[in-house]
Amino acid sequence: MTAMRVVPVAESPAGIAVDALAVPVSGVEVLNGSALEVDRALGGLLREVLATAEFKGELHEVLPLPTQGRIAARRVILYGLGPSADLDGQRLRSAHHQLVRSARKHGYRRVAILRADPLGLESMQAVVEGSVMGTFEPRSRQTSEPERGDVDELLLIGFGEGREREADAARQSGEATNRARELSNMPANELTPAGLADEAARIAQRHGLELEVLGPSELRAGGYNLLLGVGSGSAQAPRLIRLRHHGAQPDGGATLSLVGKGITFDTGGIALKEQVGMSKMKADMAGAAAVLSAMDAIAARKLPLDVMAVVAAAENMPGPTAMRPGDVVVSAAGKTVEVLNPDAEGRLVLADAITYALRGGATHILDLATLTGAATIAIGHAATAAVSNDDSFWQLVEEASRQAGDRVWRLPMLADYRVLLRSKVADLRNSEYGEAGSILGGMFIGEFVDGKPWAHLDIAASSWNTNSDLTTIHGGPSGAGTRICIELAELMAGAAR
Ligand code: BES
Ligand code: ZN
Ligand code: MN
Repeated sequence: MTAMRVVPVAESPAGIAVDALAVPVSGVEVLNGSALEVDRALGGLLREVLATAEFKGELHEVLPLPTQGRIAARRVILYGLGPSADLDGQRLRSAHHQLVRSARKHGYRRVAILRADPLGLESMQAVVEGSVMGTFEPRSRQTSEPERGDVDELLLIGFGEGREREADAARQSGEATNRARELSNMPANELTPAGLADEAARIAQRHGLELEVLGPSELRAGGYNLLLGVGSGSAQAPRLIRLRHHGAQPDGGATLSLVGKGITFDTGGIALKEQVGMSKMKADMAGAAAVLSAMDAIAARKLPLDVMAVVAAAENMPGPTAMRPGDVVVSAAGKTVEVLNPDAEGRLVLADAITYALRGGATHILDLATLTGAATIAIGHAATAAVSNDDSFWQLVEEASRQAGDRVWRLPMLADYRVLLRSKVADLRNSEYGEAGSILGGMFIGEFVDGKPWAHLDIAASSWNTNSDLTTIHGGPSGAGTRICIELAELMAGAAR
């Protein structure tokens, strides 16, 4: 994966010398405007292909065609957006993800995208973010690496002039998403809690951010016993990481805290998970990956807002020193927790991480966590399951999600569920089998936010698509939540584009 140059240009679609000129088509389309111009130059080739239904404009459909020297581009690529009724920011990005993957497969290095806007919905941000995401290549550890193509230049035709800054911001958001995907992919022997702290240190160094990392002795001093407890079965000691971007005037205002679950491997602890599929638990730090990668983009943009990323990093392992079911642990906030299930570790580490964020002055909290398998049952891989304690903060998160093309769906926190968090021996218990699993996971975390506006994104399903039947969503890590964090910071900074 090399960095792709993204440039809005003023050239004509027929005159641009590229390996491939990409033209979007939606299900029901009659070619319009600039696409028609290309079609005329090609002697009606595009209309002919559409008329014969060789190409239907379905989402993820990609068809390269030779141009035989009639236009300057060596190939034209038709790519589908699907029917307008189904199109949203997520599918739009996905269409471009697929377009770039296909261009890479064919070895096209210089690609132009024509704004044909068949549905009137194409935005430069979506086009660029999706395309950059299409450059993602999981790092292979095979000793003889197969050749893979790269698109190293993306030219945008018809998106208007003077939009370099916007294109660049979108490229950054796409790259931040890819970085989150790359971190999610990393095996747990290579990405440890200390490794997550190293990643934070690299970001801090790059932008001159303030960084604090608490190791075992500082965690003990601060009373972060839930995080310590979750990490206690592992030889890799936990870390609590706080990365701060000071963007606001000294007199303050809001401090947005982005809190990520950073379990570098989740075996389930003493409540050991079954072996089938357990290797996927290397990605139980996708929330941490999202908030750290987002922070990189937020700092690069110098947003006028105080933002802190907080990561609770630990490895959940069984062993003689691991927590037992039934252990009672005193959280950093002072509330006592009966740990009925050591596999419900995410809410434990997040509780302490949120206390750390509050101690650092957080006024608004967004947490991201691969928290519950129940999220897959409830709404599947197509969206992130969410809860929130504050309607107006939630509206901001929802707007950020819309701008990011990264779906969220709010679940209800009904008062009736509260009894399910009650323990007979402590203030709270950490798990309840059976109903409303994703909601309860969120509600447990909500017990620690001290009344601050808060939203919880359960990205357990959305951060990694394992359902190969769900072909409109690419498989593997998605970087879910990364761009939501960036857009939320943009919105709160009042610097929304
Ligand atoms: N990391 C898992 C959740 C998860 C499951 C993430 C599948 C990604 C894919 C989490 O720590 C967990 O084990 N949750 C339990 C909670 C239960 C014990 C209340 C679960 O979902 O089974
Ligand atoms: Zn977990
Ligand atoms: Mn678990």
